[in-house]
Amino acid sequence: MPRRPRALAITVGVLATALLAAGLAGCAIDGLRDGGRVDTVGAVSFTRPLVIPPLAESTVINGERVFDLTASAGNAQFLDGKKTATWGYNGSYLGPTLVATRGEKVRVNVHNELEAMTTLHWHGMHLPPAMDGGPHQPIAAGDDWSPHWTIDQPAATLWYHPHPHGETEDQVARGLAGMFILQDDEESALALPRAYGTDDIPLIVQDTRFNADNSFNRENRGFVGSLGDTILANGTVGAYLDVTTEAVRLRLLNASTARTYDFAFSDSRPFEQIASDGGLLEAPLATDRVQLSPGERAEVVVRFTAGETVVLRSNAPDLGGDASDRNGGADRFDVLELRAASVLAASPDVPAQLTRIAPIGKPTVERSLTFDGTEINSEPMELGRIDQVVTLGSTEAWNVTNDMDLPHNFHIHDVQFRVAAIDGKAPPPELAGWKDTVYLRPHANYRLVMTFSDYSSPTQPYMYHCHLLWHEDKGMMGQFVVVKPGQHAGTIKGAANDHDHNH
Ligand code: C2O
Ligand code: CU
Ligand code: CU
Repeated sequence: MPRRPRALAITVGVLATALLAAGLAGCAIDGLRDGGRVDTVGAVSFTRPLVIPPLAESTVINGERVFDLTASAGNAQFLDGKKTATWGYNGSYLGPTLVATRGEKVRVNVHNELEAMTTLHWHGMHLPPAMDGGPHQPIAAGDDWSPHWTIDQPAATLWYHPHPHGETEDQVARGLAGMFILQDDEESALALPRAYGTDDIPLIVQDTRFNADNSFNRENRGFVGSLGDTILANGTVGAYLDVTTEAVRLRLLNASTARTYDFAFSDSRPFEQIASDGGLLEAPLATDRVQLSPGERAEVVVRFTAGETVVLRSNAPDLGGDASDRNGGADRFDVLELRAASVLAASPDVPAQLTRIAPIGKPTVERSLTFDGTEINSEPMELGRIDQVVTLGSTEAWNVTNDMDLPHNFHIHDVQFRVAAIDGKAPPPELAGWKDTVYLRPHANYRLVMTFSDYSSPTQPYMYHCHLLWHEDKGMMGQFVVVKPGQHAGTIKGAANDHDHNH
């Protein structure tokens, strides 16, 4: 029987700071019932083998690699006793891992067997706006949607999840998410672990909370959204992994709706970060921690000695500013126990050079976005409003400021960006590669440079938003269209269905 992680009681001090946070954010807060800290370090029984999401089957039809994903309701056995009502793709919880190679044409036949409208967004993917799966591509209950595009970006760990306006947090938290691995010739030629499920391990990390009857409980809302007290690793509570090779590549995906993790090993062993959201770093980064806010990914390679056991854990993340002792900033978790076999297959060292990343381009357009409350530039999201008009082919600097003492992050569709500067200074090495999501430290300014190549439509927007999904749902999102030089933005199709989700 796994012990339930313990959630410590609220202290008067924590409650006081929580109330202060609520005051700072004003009416943006629905309720802040619990500022309690969670610490499961040493308190998790690792009794269940880590579930490895199956690789999605595909068939090549007329030169297209075709996948099938069906979203449906189900029941998952997370804990002993009662099952938990969930949603998933091709199964009860999460979805299979899609794999495709640069240059390939792909098509995904998405079937919605839920009793609710959903959408399916390809987070981190460079693709036409009509295929993006944002709030403008609803799939009604019982309907199908078959987006198709050509993979045209470097090898990377991407993911997919629903994006219905106002409902994203709920649908992701029920279990709708999966990994999408991109390969290319350059990455395939490197001596890196790549045996899926053996030494190349997808690791989708989420936090949740269970009621006494094992149903999900998401009532514990702080400023950042709903925080849990129990870790799900690929949907496994109390997960362990049998390690059979000297080196293991972990593809870490923070698919939590609100929580930021600071991943490290229980013995603080060094490891190498080899990739960020959009692909490989130029060279492996020797480190002993990697912090990921919701939506971010990192690939790391860690080495083992035969017979040892070590725990992947999340230490208290450095959220910055005044945010560090609440909003999960003081919480610690045991995530996954890694059990090395008595004999390990040899693994080569990580190559000293992984890829070349072009220097950051020279922006010709400057934009400023200010994140405050749950609005960007003082406006809540509107499906019928285009907030930014970008000219195809241009390189732009988006200067994004978190104007609060509290956490946000920034995610943009269509492109991967480079972090040119944080408060005018060069970014740390883990943020020097391709990113599509970045944590916004309180009161900090992020200069993000991106080039909008390939896809344009004056009437079909892409999104940018805070990836704290409750903030996104409350309207902390904007829309941009990419137009050809000389073209004007049009009227957004289907925006007549717009309705107000703000409470
Ligand atoms: Cu991961 Cu707009 O989303
Ligand atoms: Cu996205
Ligand atoms: Cu936010």
